[in-house]
Amino acid sequence: MKKVLIIGQGGREHALAWKLQQSPEVSQIFVAPGNAGTALEPGMTNINIEATDVTALLEFAQTHQIDLTIVGPEAPLAAGVVDTFRAHDLAIFGPTQKAALLETSKVFSKTFMAKHGIPTASFAHFDNAAAAKEYARHHTLPLVVKASGLMAGKGVIICENEQEAFAAIDALLMDKNSEIVIETFLQGEELSFIVMTDGVHIVPLATSQDHKRRDDGDKGPNTGGMGAYSPVSWVTPALEEKILNTVIKPTLSALAKENTSYCGFLYAGLMISPSGDIQVLEFNCRLGDPETQALLPRLKTDLFALCWATTHSQLQDKCVEWDDRVAVSVVLCASGYPGPVKRGDTIHHYRVDCDEAVKFFVSGAKNQEQQLITAGGRVLCISALGKTVHEARARALYWAEQVTWPGKFYRKDIGWRAVERE
Ligand code: AMP
Ligand code: GLY
Repeated sequence: MKKVLIIGQGGREHALAWKLQQSPEVSQIFVAPGNAGTALEPGMTNINIEATDVTALLEFAQTHQIDLTIVGPEAPLAAGVVDTFRAHDLAIFGPTQKAALLETSKVFSKTFMAKHGIPTASFAHFDNAAAAKEYARHHTLPLVVKASGLMAGKGVIICENEQEAFAAIDALLMDKNSEIVIETFLQGEELSFIVMTDGVHIVPLATSQDHKRRDDGDKGPNTGGMGAYSPVSWVTPALEEKILNTVIKPTLSALAKENTSYCGFLYAGLMISPSGDIQVLEFNCRLGDPETQALLPRLKTDLFALCWATTHSQLQDKCVEWDDRVAVSVVLCASGYPGPVKRGDTIHHYRVDCDEAVKFFVSGAKNQEQQLITAGGRVLCISALGKTVHEARARALYWAEQVTWPGKFYRKDIGWRAVERE
């Protein structure tokens, strides 16, 4: 029996812990630091160590003889937790600091894609506002301004006119040492394509689609993600094959050529044009949030076995089975998100156990005197299974309505494209 440490504190990590706990091979799960959701699940223990405190995480893993550590978010990857654990011969699931540059630096990832012929929007990068504005002035509109570094999904501004572009450039270049990317606006439908890989073998997960804008109808500012569904029905086996051949495999082999082997989840955020052209919007070096909350309720294969095989370069033996039902995850937010939010409100009617087809995941809430208190912008994520996207969404929305706190809001139209197709 194995002891597992999960690093992170969001809805994705709650979902990971919940799924890993179902493995017959796992005896104990620790989550650092975890949240109120992992605190309330039976058989899990939160430990009071920040996700980026690499020294304390290492010491904990050594003292408690952790068999496998799984990294949820990007910040610990950027902090080099994988490099440190490996240097101490500890099994850890996730890419090294260098491989994680694919996500942590957009200047790196765009330059990497251009160099290796991986399809992506044309771009230029700047650390100087005057030069960026000069470039923007001659660029067709709309254009996209992106912070190079990590911004929790909030560093991308789509600009319809020159004034907006100049404001975005000033805002994102305000900090010293910051860099931006300016790129061509792409049209089409977005797709989250996530694989598990040990650097050589690749196991694609089910497809999913996130909803980045805050409001119904894909309006309002970009967020970390307001909801997702899986699978995406229009992704044919031929398209999947094309994504593997034009994006995933070339990326892994280019990394290997640069002596950077990749282990973990690799997430390609793609734009698929109406004619089936593929462009990479971004890479993430981890699972998506809230895609995970839509994917894992459908996963029938033992997640621990998959992560163990990946970490021990035995992924070739593995195939993955999925529930035939569709899953929809709906994110419930605190008033103000994605800007500054109100915290500290009491959440009523949270359910650790719901019915078989529904699961509540905590994204940003803590336990205080036996009560659940809001503690972040994205507070909860409710996932539901159904025969159709429409049915799964209706089920998730029913429960989203039952949970209450002042200022709670959520999108009611997650999966709208799929529902229209149904
Ligand atoms: P990123 O973090 O680069 O994936 O960007 C966040 C979101 O901004 C994406 O999921 C898209 O919705 C949007 N976006 C980013 N780049 C582009 C682009 N070149 N064209 C159109 N939309 C984009
Ligand atoms: N849901 C998008 C992300 O996790 O980056």
